[in-house]
Amino acid sequence: SPWRATVLTLFPEMFPGPLGVSLAGKALASGVWALEARDIRDSATDRHRSVDDTPAGGGPGMVLRADVLAAAIDAAAAAPDRPHLLMSPRGRPLTQSRVRELAAGSGPLVICGRFEGVDQRVIEARQLEEVSIGDYVLSGGEIAAMALIDACVRLLPGVMGRAESASEESFAESLLEYPQYTRPQTFEGRPIPEILTSGDHAKVAAWRKAEAEALTRARRPDLWRAFEKASKSTTKE
Ligand code: ADE
Repeated sequence: SPWRATVLTLFPEMFPGPLGVSLAGKALASGVWALEARDIRDSATDRHRSVDDTPAGGGPGMVLRADVLAAAIDAAAAAPDRPHLLMSPRGRPLTQSRVRELAAGSGPLVICGRFEGVDQRVIEARQLEEVSIGDYVLSGGEIAAMALIDACVRLLPGVMGRAESASEESFAESLLEYPQYTRPQTFEGRPIPEILTSGDHAKVAAWRKAEAEALTRARRPDLWRAFEKASKSTTKE
């Protein structure tokens, strides 16, 4: 059976959304992966199908009920070996290495939070792994879930041609990407850097690495320090 993402959401009509087009959409249509969007509201038990309530202790907004969300998780019959993720700005920041692990497995259950949050007891009782896609606040977890799923799907076997699976340079995984150019040769008076049209592959590779390093040092001192540290530990000096 293919890699599968099961999404629990109050807005199942948001899916597949952007995951239904382009690379991910083609792979979805061809059966490389499967997407199941389930409505949390289907697990409500009362007459009004309520899923949220006011926060204990007072305060603004509404909190997603533990009993309703637990029932939705259990009804999804998510095998316990599948990662149970909760998209949340409180979560551990998503990394490419976690994406690689998720893509290598059978596929996660992804819960989309809404309102001011989710009752803490269901996070603990179902051992949900809280995941953030960055230090900003979205109005719900759906767009974050789509970002996570897209990042996984592009790594599945057969989704991307060799063009992009080409992390052929050793530095490509740890540095920001070097600048790219294509025709025309001159755009608004700006030529393509001469070295790229020289045909000297070694010089091109060295130029790209230097550009990637300069960009990373300027924009992402955190990545730069990690890269420097890793370079020192692999260089025999
Ligand atoms: N839900 C709201 N904001 C989020 C974020 N930054 N990451 C993951 N889920 C979220």
